[in-house]
Amino acid sequence: MFKDLENKVVVITGAGSGLGKAFSEEFGKLKAKVVMNYLSDKHLDDINKTIKLIEDAGGQAIKVQGDVSVEDDVNNLVQTAVKEFGTVDVMINNAGFEKPIPSHEMSVSEWQKVIDINLTGAFMGAKAAVNQFLKEDKKGVILNTSSVHDTIPWPNYVNYAASKGGLKLMMETMSMEYAQYGIRINNISPGAIVTEHTREKFSDPTTRAETLEMIPAKEIGEAHQVANVALFLASDFSDYIHGTTIYVDGGMTNYPAFMGGKG
Ligand code: BGC
Repeated sequence: MFKDLENKVVVITGAGSGLGKAFSEEFGKLKAKVVMNYLSDKHLDDINKTIKLIEDAGGQAIKVQGDVSVEDDVNNLVQTAVKEFGTVDVMINNAGFEKPIPSHEMSVSEWQKVIDINLTGAFMGAKAAVNQFLKEDKKGVILNTSSVHDTIPWPNYVNYAASKGGLKLMMETMSMEYAQYGIRINNISPGAIVTEHTREKFSDPTTRAETLEMIPAKEIGEAHQVANVALFLASDFSDYIHGTTIYVDGGMTNYPAFMGGKG
């Protein structure tokens, strides 16, 4: 499956942990050339392990430190991929941040931080990738990691929900602009997925039970299930898919409160 991803240059932001790490591993296993962006040195051990795993599988990988909310860092990321591997085929704007704060207590800087990383960061990544694709006359792919909260409101996470809602129309708008050049831009919207960021909250029995109530499939998802969709959306198997969102959420966006058939 997805043989065409071999040797593709795939840039992934927020690759040091969570879904970004899983994306890196899965593309690497298919012998892609993976450019792993990370912010904090605390991820270095994990990144080096992932690079080794990718190299052992016959792929290649490099790491590039940078803050996705700083345009120079984002441009440097894309240009490093071009310098090291000659091109960019797939840009995955994955880096994200979330922290619960009631809206009336949220400072403007707390609001702004999440918008800057999750929305502006993805815009700058998409913009840099589109420029490179146009320069090379390449039918490149852009994927953004969104969330079920691009459509489901999320109390205490107003900045996060706003960033993901914005990401949806950003993706749809940019797709409409660049589909004519064969550039495909799509979002992946995960629901509750176990990663190192969520493991603790989903191990708490009450939170776990409350979360399962919201999932028709009655299972918390796993990172590789999201990564599989990234592989599909990056490959030629999806070459007529433009400007859409694939939810990977066990049915969470499907009004699970109605499961009992009442109302
Ligand atoms: C968040 C998770 C959350 C899930 C479902 C995701 O976007 O990153 O923390 O569990 O949405 O609410």
